[in-house]
Amino acid sequence: MLGRIQTDELQYLAVKLMIMKYGLFITLEGGEGSGKSTQARYLTQRLKRRHIPAISIREPGSTPLGNRLRRLLKYSEIALAYEAELLLFNASRLQLVSDVIRPALRRGEVVICDRFADSTLAYQGYGRGLSLEIVEQINEVGTQNVLPDLTILLDVAPEKGLQRHEVSNDRYESGHRLDDIMDFHRRVRDGYLSLSLEQPERWLKIDGTLPAAEVSKIIWRRVNDLLSGNS
Ligand code: TMP
Repeated sequence: MLGRIQTDELQYLAVKLMIMKYGLFITLEGGEGSGKSTQARYLTQRLKRRHIPAISIREPGSTPLGNRLRRLLKYSEIALAYEAELLLFNASRLQLVSDVIRPALRRGEVVICDRFADSTLAYQGYGRGLSLEIVEQINEVGTQNVLPDLTILLDVAPEKGLQRHEVSNDRYESGHRLDDIMDFHRRVRDGYLSLSLEQPERWLKIDGTLPAAEVSKIIWRRVNDLLSGNS
C-alpha cells in the first residue's frame, strides 16, 4: 500500500514538473445543455486533488470586460448584426487570452475553458452562416494564436440538449419559431462534428447523453494520458 502511494505521488510530481514548464490548455465545447460546465468543474476538482495547479474559466466571461459582454451577448435585447456578434465574442476572447489564459499557461497551470474559438466557428460560422474563412481570421485575432492542446466535444442532439438547458431568453431562442431554433442548433451540432473530424488528434468527442460520472471518467483518462505524455 505504502509503495503504491509513493508511486502515485512520484508520478504526479513528475506530471506537475512537466506541466509547470509548459502549461496545458483544455477547452470544452458542445451545444446547449451538453453538460460542459459540470465536466469543467469535475476536471478542475480532480486536478486540484492531485495538487496540479488548474483554473476554470468560461467564454464569454471571466474578465470584467468579458462579463459585461456576456450579459450583452446572451441576454440583451439590442439587435446585433451577426458580424458584430462575431467581433464581440472575439473581443471578450482577446481580453481573456491576454489577462488570464496566457499568464496562467506561462505559470505552468492547466487552463480549463468552457467554450473557446471553436464555439465561434460552430455558432457564428455553421449556425449563423458567416463565411468560415472570415470567422477563422477574426478568431486568429481573438486567440492571439493561443490554441487548445485538447478540445472535448460533448455531443448531444439539440432535441435532448435544449430540454436540459435552463429556460432562457437568450438571443438564439427569443423571437424565433421552434423549427428555426432547432435548425440553428442542428447546424451548430453538425459544425462541431465537422470540426472534430478535421483535427481528430486535438478533439475528444464524447456522447453527452452518458451519465455525468462516466463522461468525467472518459475525460480524465485522456487528460491523464496527456499529462503522462502518452498521447
Ligand atoms: P453558455 O455559457 O451558456 O454556453 O452560453 C454562451 C452562449 O454564447 C451559447 O449560446 C453559445 C454562444 N456563443 C457563441 O455564439 N459564439 C461564441 O464564440 C461563444 C464563445 C459562445
